[in-house]
Amino acid sequence: MLEILKNIVLEAGELFKEGYYNNKKIEFKGAKDLVTNYDVAVENLLIEKLTQSFEGFDVIAEESKNNYETFYNSIIIDPIDGTTNFVNKVPHCAISVGIYKNKKPYLAVVYNPILDELYSAQVDKGAYCNGKRIKVSQEEDLQLSLIATGFPYTSVENKEDLDFVLKALEKILPKCQDIRRLGSASLDICMVAKGVFDAYYEINTNPWDVAAGIIILKEAGGCIFNSLGEEYNMFEDKCIVATNGKIDSLLYKELKDI
Ligand code: IPD
Ligand code: CA
Ligand code: CA
Repeated sequence: MLEILKNIVLEAGELFKEGYYNNKKIEFKGAKDLVTNYDVAVENLLIEKLTQSFEGFDVIAEESKNNYETFYNSIIIDPIDGTTNFVNKVPHCAISVGIYKNKKPYLAVVYNPILDELYSAQVDKGAYCNGKRIKVSQEEDLQLSLIATGFPYTSVENKEDLDFVLKALEKILPKCQDIRRLGSASLDICMVAKGVFDAYYEINTNPWDVAAGIIILKEAGGCIFNSLGEEYNMFEDKCIVATNGKIDSLLYKELKDI
């Protein structure tokens, strides 16, 4: 089934590329939250093809089916993760599809069609990037760790969320090697899985941002928690912390009291 999923995502990647290199219609869902006609078109293509191939699975998808209540056997889709990058031609954007069976990780693909990088995983079968096995880093020292993060769109209207971002930077930046904000949560988590980043944290992500990345990271030997170090629930928790499994406690220590 992983091959079927990969082929469908690769096909959707062609449409993604067409949109990236050509004119597109852009609308604002919020002051910072963009959507293009390609977000909708890629999502529709994925839903049509995936529901034909995965019988008995329902869909949770950013642009059209964002009701979480049906979560059980679910295909969770972000058609373009990193739409701001997509619109501005920053080549860090991806299609993200995570499939859960009985509410448990099953299959995942995160595909960046612009750099032609395809991350994939099947539960208990490991994680791969373009067919090569990937593993998290072995870094144990926060001061030597490269950390990724994201800035929530709600920072416009919600002062508490903006304060979280600023306080987290104030606490973590001096204590790590550096912090990156590349603009695609799914790819950020995959880059932890690949050992490029040692950890990633962000608040206010949605399930479609992280559903696939979580499966890929776990299969690459990494860990996902909330900011208190408890098991992460992508539907309920405000903060996601994804790490190589070595620097978790050092990060929670900084994040837990913000
Ligand atoms: C966003 C990106 C971004 C993250 C935001 C997400 P979108 O997804 O993943 O990196 O910081 O939280 O909403 O809106 O481009 O699909
Ligand atoms: Ca997203
Ligand atoms: Ca999106």
